[in-house]
This record gives sequence, C-alpha cells and structure tokens, in this order.
Amino acid sequence: MKYYNNILETIGNTPLVKINKLTKDVKATVLAKVETTNPGNSVKDRMAVKMVEDAEEKGWIKPGGTIIEGTSGNTGMGLALAAIAKGYKLICVLADKQSKEKMDILRAVGAEVVVCPTAVEPEDPRSYYSVSKRLAEETPNSWYVNQYDNLANRQAHYEQTGPEIWEQTEGKITHFIVGVGTGGTISGVGKYLKEQNPNVKIWGVDTYGSVFKKYHETGIFDENEIYPYITEGIGEDILPKNVDFDIIDHFTKVTDKDAAVYTRRLAREEGIFVGNSAGAAIKGVLQMQDELTEDDVVVVLFHDHGSRYVGKMFNDDWMRERGFLEEEKKTALDLIESHANLPLVSLMSEELISHAVSKMRDFKISQIPVMKDGEFVGLVDDKTLFELLIDNPNIVDDPISTVMKDPLPVVEASANIDQISKLINRETPAVLVKLENGKYNIITRYDIIDAIA
Ligand SMILES: Cc1ncc(COP(=O)(O)O)c(C=O)c1O
Repeated sequence: MKYYNNILETIGNTPLVKINKLTKDVKATVLAKVETTNPGNSVKDRMAVKMVEDAEEKGWIKPGGTIIEGTSGNTGMGLALAAIAKGYKLICVLADKQSKEKMDILRAVGAEVVVCPTAVEPEDPRSYYSVSKRLAEETPNSWYVNQYDNLANRQAHYEQTGPEIWEQTEGKITHFIVGVGTGGTISGVGKYLKEQNPNVKIWGVDTYGSVFKKYHETGIFDENEIYPYITEGIGEDILPKNVDFDIIDHFTKVTDKDAAVYTRRLAREEGIFVGNSAGAAIKGVLQMQDELTEDDVVVVLFHDHGSRYVGKMFNDDWMRERGFLEEEKKTALDLIESHANLPLVSLMSEELISHAVSKMRDFKISQIPVMKDGEFVGLVDDKTLFELLIDNPNIVDDPISTVMKDPLPVVEASANIDQISKLINRETPAVLVKLENGKYNIITRYDIIDAIA
C-alpha cells in the first residue's frame, strides 16, 4: 500500500510547470514552481511545520501546548495543519480588516481566532501586537512563532524548496525570482541554489510602498518608501531577520495594478489559478526580461492558491472600483449591432438631388454616401441640402455630384470607439465600416451617443 501517515507528509514535491503564453516574448525558458498542491494550498506549509519542529527540538513548546501567531492566511493554515497532526492548540491573532472568509477558514481547521481593531496604535493594549504579546505571556506552555524573525522559516526552504528546484531543473536553473515578504522563501532557496552554483541569479519582487528595494540598493531604511498598498503577501515596512539581503542580486518593484492584472492573466491564459503574489512575480519576470537569454532557465515561485482571492483580484467589481480593470472598448462591430443586417443606403453620383431628398425621407436618415464605379466618392447630408435648397429650390434636378461633400472616412470592423469618435466632427457626421464580407455599414453620431449613454 502506498499512503502517507498524516497530511504533513504530503507537503512538498510541488510541480514545475512551463509558462507559455504570458512569456512568449521572453527568450529564456520560464518554469513556475506551483506551490498550491501543498495541503494548505501554499508554500507556507513547509516553513510552518519546520518552525514547529524546530520549536519542539529547542523545547520552546511541549506536548499539548499552544501555538500563537499573528497571521491572516497562509502561515496560519500551515500552522493549523501542523497543530492538528502534532496535538497543539493554535491561536491566530488577526486585525479586523481581514476578511471574514479568512477567519472562517482558520476556524475550519480548528484555530482560535482573536480579532483586534486595526485603527489603534501599536502600544494600545487592544492592538494586534499588544494582544499577541499578552496572550503569549498569559498562556502557559505557549510559543509565539514570529515568522518574520524565526530563522527556521528560511531554513525550511533551504532544506526543501531549494533542493527540489535544483533537482527538477537538473541543475540548469540560471535565475530564481520570487515575491519577498518575510524573506524566508527567497533567502532559503537562494542560499541553497548559490551553494550549488554561485552564478545563479536571485531576484526579489517587491511592491511600491515597501522598504526592501531601496534598502537593498542603498542600505538606507527609508520611511518615505512606506505607504499602504494592495498587493498581498509581499513587501514590508520592517526588515525581517529572514531576509538575507546578501543572497539577493536585485529587486524589481511591481505595481498593485500589474500584480492584480497578471494574477488574472495567469488563471485565464495559463490555467494556473494562483494568488496575488504570483501575479506580481510573473510580472517581475517580464520586467527583467531584457537581462535574459535563450540559454537561461528561470524558475518563478507561485506562493498560494487563487481561491483566496475570488472576492478580490478575481472579482470584476473589486477590480473596477480600483481602476484595475482594462475595460474592453467597444468596436465598430458593436456600434453597428442594431443595424448590422440592414443594407447600406447609398446613391450614385449621377442621380439627382431630388432622389437624395426622397431617400432621406423614406429611410429617415440625414446623410447618404455617394458611389461611382463601386467606390465611395462623396456624401450628401441634410444640413448641406437644406442650405442650398433654401437659396435655390431649383437645384433638385441637378446631379448629386454638383453638391456632394468629401466621402466619409472608412474604418476596419475592429476599430475601437475612441478611434472612431476622433474621426466624427462637425464636417464629418459619420464613418463607414468595412466588413469582413466586403460590404460596408455606417456609424453615425447617434450610434456613438447610443453606445456611451
Ligand atoms: C501569498 C504570499 N506570497 C508571498 C509571500 C512571501 O513569502 P516569504 O514570506 O517567504 O518571503 C507570502 C508570505 O509572507 C505569502 O503569503
């Protein structure tokens, strides 16, 4: 029989999956280490178990003890699995800005969730920091994990994630790129890979609003770099002990919008349903692509599963409210939808003005393209006819060619509403659309107003 003794044994050996469409312009081979197949759906299972085992070895926690950590998501889930398998209690201290779903998920796996107000100073006894500290002091046989400074975090990646990547790429990896939060992943994997081959480049993905990139480049901890941002899991306003800045060759910063947009693109274009920091990481690869050659093998690590973000990056309203959604612009085809099946009303240049007037009346239209030898050669419109007929009603028997204006511009069916609107003005009341079947249709000012209003 082939089975695991408990759920913790299923952690690791995650797949390496080639990215195809999103990286089609990147010369290197780009492989994603997809960590969602861990039982807690994130890479954090690895370090959560390692930190607990390390605490057991060091005697920080004894059988039946209580694990305490301030975490909203992935680390909490990993700790919960470890706590269940090893017989500990788990208390997760969360700020009230975290979603109810996140709290419910932690409760589902047996954690006690303590919620603290977000809008208080760190020194306030109700704050997340004060409450975690107090709980750790008051609860007998308890252990405060502190994933930021607990170096068992990066050790887990040095022992597991790094060797897996080295073996899976048969030592051909040239670049490792990943989002940086506590720093555990990049530092542990980076150390292992550089020990195997010092030429492997280690690139960190940072956010705007985080201190990492500037600190790495200048050694300055600049508080001006700190401001609120949306991207989850990466970037910090502190320097966690787990970040080994010497291992990291370069940081690239990715915007909140790009991280969100690329998270969605990974799901839709690669079928890889992963979290927000994965979107940032793959965008980081694209930002660095000029540094890559055909011989390079890039591994980008995707931390967690997309299901944790269905109410956020995968929700159109959430994206729209933040201006992150690239609205699909209406095209010429959309604009002619209401009259696409009607033939284009036109006149021959040798027809009389009286014919133009009766066609306008019959079809209730105010402009008609004029044709000669199968080409558009002009336009008659009600405004011009009105002015001319007021002056001289006898012109009704003159040919249209004597009064027509320049022909209307022609656009392709794929032209978008912005391009079309720019062509329509006081002199040009409409544009013609060339359809795939070789026929033409017309877009008037009213079609545009109709599409916008
Ligand atoms: C979703 C997600 N992405 C990225 C990270 C960053 O990983 P690390 O803390 O190992 O730097 C984390 C953890 O903090 C995370 O939960």
